[in-house]
Amino acid sequence: MKNQLRYGKLKYISFVLLNLLCLAGANMLAAWVYMNTHNTRRHRYSYADHWSIVVFMLVIDVFITIAFNTLNRVLMRRALKELVESIKHVALSFVLLALVLFTTKLGADYSRFTVYLAYIIDLILLVGTHIAWKELLRRLLKRGRTPTALLMTTDKFLDEGIDTLTKSGVDVRAIFLLKAGKGQSRDDIDEVQTEDEATACICWTPLDRVYIYGLDHQMIPEKLKHACEEMGVAIDFVDFEYRILELKTVANEDPKYGALSFLEGKRDIPFPIRRVYWITQTEADQHRGFHAHKQNCQLLFCPHGKIDIILDDGSNEKKTVTLDGPRKGLLLMPGLWREMVWRESGSVLCVLASEYYDEKEYIRNYDEFIAYRNRETLPRGDGMT
Ligand code: TYD
Repeated sequence: MKNQLRYGKLKYISFVLLNLLCLAGANMLAAWVYMNTHNTRRHRYSYADHWSIVVFMLVIDVFITIAFNTLNRVLMRRALKELVESIKHVALSFVLLALVLFTTKLGADYSRFTVYLAYIIDLILLVGTHIAWKELLRRLLKRGRTPTALLMTTDKFLDEGIDTLTKSGVDVRAIFLLKAGKGQSRDDIDEVQTEDEATACICWTPLDRVYIYGLDHQMIPEKLKHACEEMGVAIDFVDFEYRILELKTVANEDPKYGALSFLEGKRDIPFPIRRVYWITQTEADQHRGFHAHKQNCQLLFCPHGKIDIILDDGSNEKKTVTLDGPRKGLLLMPGLWREMVWRESGSVLCVLASEYYDEKEYIRNYDEFIAYRNRETLPRGDGMT
Protein backbone atom coordinates (compact mmCIF):
# COMPACT_ATOMS: atom_id res chain seq x y z
CA MET A 1 0.00 0.00 0.00
CA LYS A 2 2.91 2.30 0.80
CA ASN A 3 4.14 1.86 -2.78
CA GLN A 4 0.72 2.47 -4.28
CA LEU A 5 0.32 5.69 -2.31
CA ARG A 6 3.81 6.79 -3.28
CA TYR A 7 3.42 6.21 -6.99
CA GLY A 8 -0.25 6.71 -7.68
CA LYS A 9 -1.96 8.31 -4.71
CA LEU A 10 -4.98 9.68 -6.59
CA LYS A 11 -5.46 6.55 -8.66
CA TYR A 12 -5.24 4.38 -5.56
CA ILE A 13 -7.74 6.57 -3.68
CA SER A 14 -10.06 6.47 -6.69
CA PHE A 15 -10.18 2.67 -6.35
CA VAL A 16 -10.88 2.90 -2.60
CA LEU A 17 -13.79 5.28 -3.31
CA LEU A 18 -15.01 3.05 -6.11
CA ASN A 19 -15.06 0.10 -3.69
CA LEU A 20 -17.13 2.12 -1.21
CA LEU A 21 -19.54 3.20 -3.94
CA CYS A 22 -19.95 -0.41 -5.05
CA LEU A 23 -20.68 -1.50 -1.49
CA ALA A 24 -23.18 1.32 -0.89
CA GLY A 25 -24.86 0.57 -4.24
CA ALA A 26 -24.93 -3.15 -3.46
CA ASN A 27 -26.66 -2.45 -0.13
CA MET A 28 -29.30 -0.27 -1.76
CA LEU A 29 -29.99 -2.94 -4.34
CA ALA A 30 -30.10 -5.67 -1.71
CA ALA A 31 -32.57 -3.63 0.39
CA TRP A 32 -34.72 -3.03 -2.69
CA VAL A 33 -34.73 -6.75 -3.50
CA TYR A 34 -35.65 -7.55 0.11
CA MET A 35 -38.53 -5.08 0.10
CA ASN A 36 -39.89 -6.53 -3.12
CA THR A 37 -39.55 -10.19 -2.23
CA HIS A 38 -40.64 -10.22 1.39
CA ASN A 39 -43.87 -9.32 3.02
CA THR A 40 -42.54 -6.16 4.66
CA ARG A 41 -45.67 -5.70 6.73
CA ARG A 42 -44.79 -8.92 8.57
CA HIS A 43 -41.01 -8.33 8.71
CA ARG A 44 -41.26 -4.56 9.21
CA TYR A 45 -38.07 -3.55 7.44
CA SER A 46 -36.52 -0.40 8.87
CA TYR A 47 -33.66 1.38 7.10
CA ALA A 48 -32.66 2.90 10.41
CA ASP A 49 -31.92 -0.56 11.88
CA HIS A 50 -29.90 -1.54 8.90
CA TRP A 51 -27.98 1.75 8.53
CA SER A 52 -25.50 1.02 11.34
CA ILE A 53 -24.60 -2.28 9.65
CA VAL A 54 -24.00 -0.54 6.33
CA VAL A 55 -21.68 1.92 8.08
CA PHE A 56 -19.82 -1.03 9.64
CA MET A 57 -19.54 -2.66 6.23
CA LEU A 58 -18.04 0.51 4.75
CA VAL A 59 -15.52 0.92 7.58
CA ILE A 60 -14.57 -2.76 7.36
CA ASP A 61 -14.15 -2.43 3.59
CA VAL A 62 -11.57 0.33 3.98
CA PHE A 63 -9.85 -1.59 6.80
CA ILE A 64 -9.56 -4.76 4.68
CA THR A 65 -8.22 -2.75 1.71
CA ILE A 66 -5.48 -1.24 3.86
CA ALA A 67 -4.67 -4.17 6.15
CA PHE A 68 -4.62 -6.84 3.41
CA ASN A 69 -3.48 -4.59 0.58
CA THR A 70 -6.29 -5.93 -1.61
CA LEU A 71 -5.73 -3.21 -4.22
CA ASN A 72 -2.14 -4.30 -4.70
CA ARG A 73 -1.23 -3.91 -8.40
CA VAL A 74 -4.91 -3.55 -9.27
CA LEU A 75 -3.98 -1.85 -12.55
CA MET A 76 -1.97 -4.87 -13.64
CA ARG A 77 -4.56 -7.51 -12.91
CA ARG A 78 -6.12 -9.50 -15.70
CA ALA A 79 -9.82 -10.51 -15.39
CA LEU A 80 -9.18 -13.84 -13.62
CA LYS A 81 -6.77 -12.31 -11.12
CA GLU A 82 -9.28 -9.49 -10.57
CA LEU A 83 -11.98 -12.05 -9.78
CA VAL A 84 -9.74 -13.93 -7.31
CA GLU A 85 -8.64 -10.73 -5.55
CA SER A 86 -12.22 -9.41 -5.38
CA ILE A 87 -13.43 -12.70 -3.88
CA LYS A 88 -10.63 -12.42 -1.32
CA HIS A 89 -11.62 -8.84 -0.51
CA VAL A 90 -15.34 -9.63 -0.14
CA ALA A 91 -14.75 -12.85 1.82
CA LEU A 92 -12.42 -11.12 4.30
CA SER A 93 -14.91 -8.26 4.71
CA PHE A 94 -17.72 -10.72 5.25
CA VAL A 95 -15.80 -12.67 7.92
CA LEU A 96 -14.85 -9.50 9.76
CA LEU A 97 -18.43 -8.17 9.63
CA ALA A 98 -19.74 -11.51 10.90
CA LEU A 99 -17.33 -11.29 13.84
CA VAL A 100 -18.47 -7.74 14.59
CA LEU A 101 -22.14 -8.70 14.41
CA PHE A 102 -21.56 -11.84 16.45
CA THR A 103 -19.83 -9.97 19.26
CA THR A 104 -22.07 -6.87 19.24
CA LYS A 105 -25.35 -8.65 18.42
CA LEU A 106 -26.21 -5.74 16.18
CA GLY A 107 -28.89 -5.72 13.51
CA ALA A 108 -32.28 -7.29 13.06
CA ASP A 109 -32.88 -10.79 11.67
CA TYR A 110 -33.79 -9.54 8.23
CA SER A 111 -30.39 -7.80 8.00
CA ARG A 112 -28.83 -11.17 7.39
CA PHE A 113 -30.54 -11.59 4.04
CA THR A 114 -29.59 -8.10 2.88
CA VAL A 115 -25.97 -8.54 4.04
CA TYR A 116 -25.56 -11.85 2.15
CA LEU A 117 -27.15 -10.38 -0.94
CA ALA A 118 -25.24 -7.10 -0.65
CA TYR A 119 -21.89 -8.92 -0.59
CA ILE A 120 -22.82 -11.05 -3.61
CA ILE A 121 -23.87 -7.93 -5.55
CA ASP A 122 -20.76 -6.13 -4.27
CA LEU A 123 -18.52 -8.87 -5.69
CA ILE A 124 -20.11 -8.57 -9.13
CA LEU A 125 -19.91 -4.77 -9.03
CA LEU A 126 -16.29 -4.82 -7.85
CA VAL A 127 -15.08 -7.02 -10.69
CA GLY A 128 -17.06 -5.10 -13.31
CA THR A 129 -16.23 -1.58 -12.16
CA HIS A 130 -12.55 -2.36 -11.52
CA ILE A 131 -12.14 -3.64 -15.07
CA ALA A 132 -14.04 -0.67 -16.55
CA TRP A 133 -12.27 1.93 -14.39
CA LYS A 134 -8.86 0.46 -15.24
CA GLU A 135 -9.61 0.73 -18.93
CA LEU A 136 -10.88 4.28 -18.55
CA LEU A 137 -7.80 5.30 -16.56
CA ARG A 138 -5.56 3.76 -19.19
CA ARG A 139 -7.29 5.77 -21.91
CA LEU A 140 -7.29 8.97 -19.86
CA LEU A 141 -3.59 8.63 -19.13
CA LYS A 142 -2.82 7.57 -22.66
CA ARG A 143 0.54 9.04 -23.34
CA GLY A 144 1.37 11.09 -26.40
CA ARG A 145 3.00 13.88 -24.48
CA THR A 146 6.75 13.90 -23.93
CA PRO A 147 7.75 10.23 -23.69
CA THR A 148 8.27 9.25 -20.07
CA ALA A 149 10.56 6.55 -18.74
CA LEU A 150 11.96 4.67 -15.82
CA LEU A 151 15.71 4.26 -16.16
CA MET A 152 17.40 1.17 -14.77
CA THR A 153 21.14 1.49 -14.48
CA THR A 154 24.01 1.38 -12.00
CA ASP A 155 25.18 4.41 -10.10
CA LYS A 156 28.34 4.43 -12.24
CA PHE A 157 26.34 5.14 -15.40
CA LEU A 158 23.55 7.18 -13.85
CA ASP A 159 24.44 10.66 -15.06
CA GLU A 160 25.35 9.63 -18.58
CA GLY A 161 22.21 7.48 -18.79
CA ILE A 162 20.00 10.41 -17.84
CA ASP A 163 21.89 12.74 -20.21
CA THR A 164 21.53 10.31 -23.11
CA LEU A 165 17.79 9.96 -22.58
CA THR A 166 17.21 13.66 -21.95
CA LYS A 167 19.09 14.50 -25.16
CA SER A 168 16.75 12.24 -27.09
CA GLY A 169 13.72 14.00 -25.58
CA VAL A 170 12.74 11.44 -22.94
CA ASP A 171 11.47 12.61 -19.56
CA VAL A 172 13.08 10.34 -16.94
CA ARG A 173 10.45 10.06 -14.20
CA ALA A 174 12.20 7.54 -11.97
CA ILE A 175 15.47 5.69 -11.64
CA PHE A 176 16.06 2.15 -10.46
CA LEU A 177 19.67 1.94 -9.38
CA LEU A 178 21.90 -1.02 -8.82
CA LYS A 179 24.34 0.51 -6.43
CA ALA A 180 27.99 -0.17 -5.98
CA GLY A 181 28.26 0.19 -2.20
CA LYS A 182 26.72 3.44 -0.97
CA GLY A 183 26.40 4.80 -4.47
CA GLN A 184 25.20 8.12 -5.75
CA SER A 185 21.66 9.13 -6.59
CA ARG A 186 19.93 12.25 -7.91
CA ASP A 187 17.89 14.71 -5.89
CA ASP A 188 15.83 15.79 -8.90
CA ILE A 189 14.54 12.33 -9.90
CA ASP A 190 12.59 9.89 -7.78
CA GLU A 191 14.63 6.81 -6.90
CA VAL A 192 13.10 3.38 -6.79
CA GLN A 193 14.90 1.21 -4.24
CA THR A 194 13.56 -2.33 -4.60
CA GLU A 195 12.03 -4.62 -7.24
CA ASP A 196 8.64 -4.17 -5.57
CA GLU A 197 8.90 -0.41 -5.75
CA ALA A 198 9.94 -0.62 -9.39
CA THR A 199 6.91 -2.80 -10.13
CA ALA A 200 4.61 -0.38 -8.28
CA CYS A 201 6.12 2.54 -10.18
CA ILE A 202 5.50 0.82 -13.53
CA CYS A 203 1.97 0.00 -12.47
CA TRP A 204 0.90 3.37 -11.06
CA THR A 205 2.95 5.94 -12.96
CA PRO A 206 2.15 6.73 -16.59
CA LEU A 207 5.32 5.48 -18.26
CA ASP A 208 6.03 4.84 -21.91
CA ARG A 209 9.19 2.83 -21.52
CA VAL A 210 11.71 1.28 -19.22
CA TYR A 211 15.23 2.00 -20.42
CA ILE A 212 18.17 -0.14 -19.38
CA TYR A 213 21.49 1.64 -19.58
CA GLY A 214 24.87 -0.06 -19.35
CA LEU A 215 23.39 -3.29 -18.00
CA ASP A 216 23.13 -6.74 -19.44
CA HIS A 217 19.65 -8.08 -20.20
CA GLN A 218 20.11 -10.72 -17.49
CA MET A 219 20.11 -8.01 -14.84
CA ILE A 220 16.45 -7.13 -15.49
CA PRO A 221 14.42 -8.65 -12.64
CA GLU A 222 11.62 -11.03 -13.65
CA LYS A 223 9.09 -9.00 -11.65
CA LEU A 224 9.95 -5.91 -13.65
CA LYS A 225 9.65 -7.77 -16.97
CA HIS A 226 6.29 -9.14 -15.90
CA ALA A 227 5.01 -5.72 -14.79
CA CYS A 228 6.09 -4.17 -18.11
CA GLU A 229 4.37 -6.92 -20.05
CA GLU A 230 1.12 -6.51 -18.11
CA MET A 231 1.11 -2.72 -18.32
CA GLY A 232 2.13 -2.62 -21.98
CA VAL A 233 5.36 -0.75 -21.18
CA ALA A 234 8.23 -1.56 -23.55
CA ILE A 235 11.73 -2.33 -22.28
CA ASP A 236 14.56 -0.85 -24.32
CA PHE A 237 18.30 -0.79 -24.08
CA VAL A 238 20.19 2.44 -24.52
CA ASP A 239 23.71 1.28 -24.64
CA PHE A 240 27.10 2.73 -25.03
CA GLU A 241 29.51 0.52 -26.92
CA TYR A 242 32.31 0.37 -24.39
CA ARG A 243 33.66 1.99 -21.25
CA ILE A 244 37.10 2.12 -19.73
CA LEU A 245 36.82 1.39 -16.02
CA GLU A 246 39.28 2.08 -13.29
CA LEU A 247 39.57 -1.11 -11.26
CA LYS A 248 39.75 -0.81 -7.51
CA THR A 249 43.31 -1.30 -6.38
CA VAL A 250 44.87 -1.40 -2.95
CA ALA A 251 48.53 -0.50 -3.20
CA ASN A 252 50.87 -1.39 -0.38
CA GLU A 253 52.85 1.41 1.23
CA ASP A 254 56.00 -0.54 0.55
CA PRO A 255 56.01 -1.05 -3.25
CA LYS A 256 57.92 -4.31 -2.97
CA TYR A 257 54.69 -5.92 -1.75
CA GLY A 258 52.92 -4.89 -4.97
CA ALA A 259 49.28 -3.96 -5.45
CA LEU A 260 45.99 -5.83 -5.10
CA SER A 261 43.21 -5.14 -7.59
CA PHE A 262 39.73 -6.55 -7.40
CA LEU A 263 36.33 -6.67 -9.06
CA GLU A 264 33.06 -7.42 -7.29
CA GLY A 265 30.07 -8.98 -9.01
CA LYS A 266 27.08 -6.62 -9.39
CA ARG A 267 28.95 -3.77 -7.71
CA ASP A 268 31.56 -3.35 -10.44
CA ILE A 269 30.25 -5.55 -13.21
CA PRO A 270 26.88 -4.79 -14.78
CA PHE A 271 26.22 -8.41 -15.74
CA PRO A 272 26.17 -11.80 -14.04
CA ILE A 273 29.55 -13.51 -14.52
CA ARG A 274 28.92 -16.81 -16.29
CA ARG A 275 32.42 -17.44 -17.50
CA VAL A 276 36.00 -16.39 -16.87
CA TYR A 277 38.85 -17.05 -19.27
CA TRP A 278 42.37 -15.84 -19.74
CA ILE A 279 44.88 -15.91 -22.58
CA THR A 280 48.55 -16.49 -21.75
CA GLN A 281 51.86 -17.31 -23.41
CA THR A 282 51.15 -15.18 -26.47
CA GLU A 283 54.11 -13.67 -28.28
CA ALA A 284 54.44 -9.97 -29.14
CA ASP A 285 52.70 -8.67 -32.29
CA GLN A 286 50.28 -11.56 -32.41
CA HIS A 287 46.69 -10.72 -33.36
CA ARG A 288 43.66 -12.53 -31.97
CA GLY A 289 39.93 -11.96 -31.83
CA PHE A 290 38.36 -10.86 -35.15
CA HIS A 291 34.83 -11.41 -33.98
CA ALA A 292 31.80 -9.74 -32.39
CA HIS A 293 29.23 -11.03 -29.92
CA LYS A 294 25.48 -10.84 -30.26
CA GLN A 295 24.72 -11.12 -26.56
CA ASN A 296 27.88 -11.51 -24.59
CA CYS A 297 28.93 -8.58 -22.36
CA GLN A 298 32.55 -8.69 -21.32
CA LEU A 299 34.99 -7.07 -19.00
CA LEU A 300 38.59 -7.30 -20.20
CA PHE A 301 41.71 -6.52 -18.24
CA CYS A 302 45.40 -7.17 -18.59
CA PRO A 303 47.03 -7.69 -15.17
CA HIS A 304 50.44 -8.17 -16.75
CA GLY A 305 51.93 -6.69 -19.95
CA LYS A 306 50.36 -4.59 -22.68
CA ILE A 307 47.59 -5.44 -25.12
CA ASP A 308 45.79 -3.20 -27.63
CA ILE A 309 42.10 -3.82 -28.12
CA ILE A 310 40.95 -2.46 -31.49
CA LEU A 311 37.21 -1.80 -31.55
CA ASP A 312 35.07 -1.43 -34.63
CA ASP A 313 31.38 -0.48 -34.65
CA GLY A 314 31.00 -0.99 -38.39
CA SER A 315 31.58 2.65 -39.26
CA ASN A 316 34.89 3.73 -40.77
CA GLU A 317 36.30 4.85 -37.47
CA LYS A 318 38.10 2.32 -35.26
CA LYS A 319 39.11 2.94 -31.67
CA THR A 320 42.07 1.44 -29.85
CA VAL A 321 42.13 0.95 -26.10
CA THR A 322 45.43 -0.08 -24.59
CA LEU A 323 45.22 -2.32 -21.58
CA ASP A 324 48.53 -1.93 -19.85
CA GLY A 325 48.12 -2.54 -16.18
CA PRO A 326 46.04 -4.17 -13.46
CA ARG A 327 44.05 -0.99 -12.70
CA LYS A 328 42.43 -0.69 -16.11
CA GLY A 329 39.34 -2.57 -17.26
CA LEU A 330 37.43 -2.43 -20.53
CA LEU A 331 33.70 -3.03 -20.44
CA LEU A 332 32.42 -4.17 -23.84
CA MET A 333 28.72 -4.29 -24.65
CA PRO A 334 27.59 -6.73 -27.38
CA GLY A 335 27.75 -5.81 -31.05
CA LEU A 336 31.36 -4.59 -31.39
CA TRP A 337 33.97 -6.16 -33.64
CA ARG A 338 37.22 -6.59 -31.73
CA GLU A 339 40.81 -7.43 -32.50
CA MET A 340 43.49 -7.88 -29.87
CA VAL A 341 47.16 -7.13 -30.53
CA TRP A 342 49.81 -8.33 -28.09
CA ARG A 343 52.26 -5.45 -27.67
CA GLU A 344 54.49 -7.31 -25.22
CA SER A 345 55.34 -10.96 -25.20
CA GLY A 346 53.66 -12.93 -22.41
CA SER A 347 50.99 -10.28 -21.71
CA VAL A 348 47.97 -11.81 -20.00
CA LEU A 349 44.42 -11.06 -21.11
CA CYS A 350 41.67 -11.86 -18.60
CA VAL A 351 38.01 -11.83 -19.58
CA LEU A 352 34.83 -11.94 -17.49
CA ALA A 353 31.84 -12.84 -19.64
CA SER A 354 28.09 -12.66 -19.15
CA GLU A 355 27.31 -15.76 -21.25
CA TYR A 356 28.45 -19.37 -21.34
CA TYR A 357 30.55 -20.27 -24.34
CA ASP A 358 28.27 -20.60 -27.35
CA GLU A 359 29.72 -20.53 -30.84
CA LYS A 360 26.32 -19.53 -32.29
CA GLU A 361 26.46 -16.29 -30.35
CA TYR A 362 29.69 -15.24 -32.16
CA ILE A 363 29.89 -13.34 -35.44
CA ARG A 364 33.19 -14.30 -37.03
CA ASN A 365 32.62 -13.03 -40.54
CA TYR A 366 33.12 -9.28 -41.05
CA ASP A 367 30.51 -8.91 -43.82
CA GLU A 368 28.02 -10.70 -41.60
CA PHE A 369 28.94 -8.28 -38.81
CA ILE A 370 28.23 -5.25 -41.02
CA ALA A 371 24.91 -6.76 -42.05
CA TYR A 372 24.12 -7.43 -38.37
CA ARG A 373 24.94 -3.85 -37.39
CA ASN A 374 22.71 -2.51 -40.15
CA ARG A 375 19.90 -4.80 -39.08
CA GLU A 376 19.94 -4.32 -35.34
CA THR A 377 17.98 -1.34 -34.10
CA LEU A 378 19.14 -0.92 -30.52
CA PRO A 379 19.23 2.74 -29.58
CA ARG A 380 22.79 3.65 -28.73
CA GLY A 381 24.09 6.22 -26.31
CA ASP A 382 27.16 8.22 -27.24
CA GLY A 383 28.41 5.58 -29.63
CA MET A 384 32.10 4.85 -29.45
CA THR A 385 33.04 7.71 -27.16
P1 TYD B 1 38.58 -17.80 -29.93
O1 TYD B 1 37.32 -17.17 -29.48
O2 TYD B 1 38.76 -18.03 -31.38
O3 TYD B 1 39.82 -16.99 -29.36
P2 TYD B 1 40.30 -15.53 -29.80
O4 TYD B 1 39.09 -14.79 -30.22
O5 TYD B 1 40.94 -14.97 -28.59
O6 TYD B 1 41.27 -15.69 -30.90
O7 TYD B 1 38.71 -19.18 -29.14
C1 TYD B 1 39.73 -20.09 -29.40
C2 TYD B 1 39.18 -21.49 -29.15
O8 TYD B 1 38.85 -21.67 -27.79
C3 TYD B 1 37.98 -21.79 -29.96
O9 TYD B 1 38.12 -23.10 -30.51
C4 TYD B 1 36.87 -21.82 -28.98
C5 TYD B 1 37.54 -22.16 -27.69
N1 TYD B 1 36.89 -21.51 -26.51
C6 TYD B 1 36.18 -22.29 -25.63
O10 TYD B 1 36.01 -23.50 -25.80
N2 TYD B 1 35.61 -21.66 -24.56
C7 TYD B 1 35.75 -20.34 -24.32
O11 TYD B 1 35.20 -19.83 -23.32
C8 TYD B 1 36.49 -19.56 -25.27
C9 TYD B 1 36.64 -18.07 -25.10
C10 TYD B 1 37.04 -20.19 -26.35
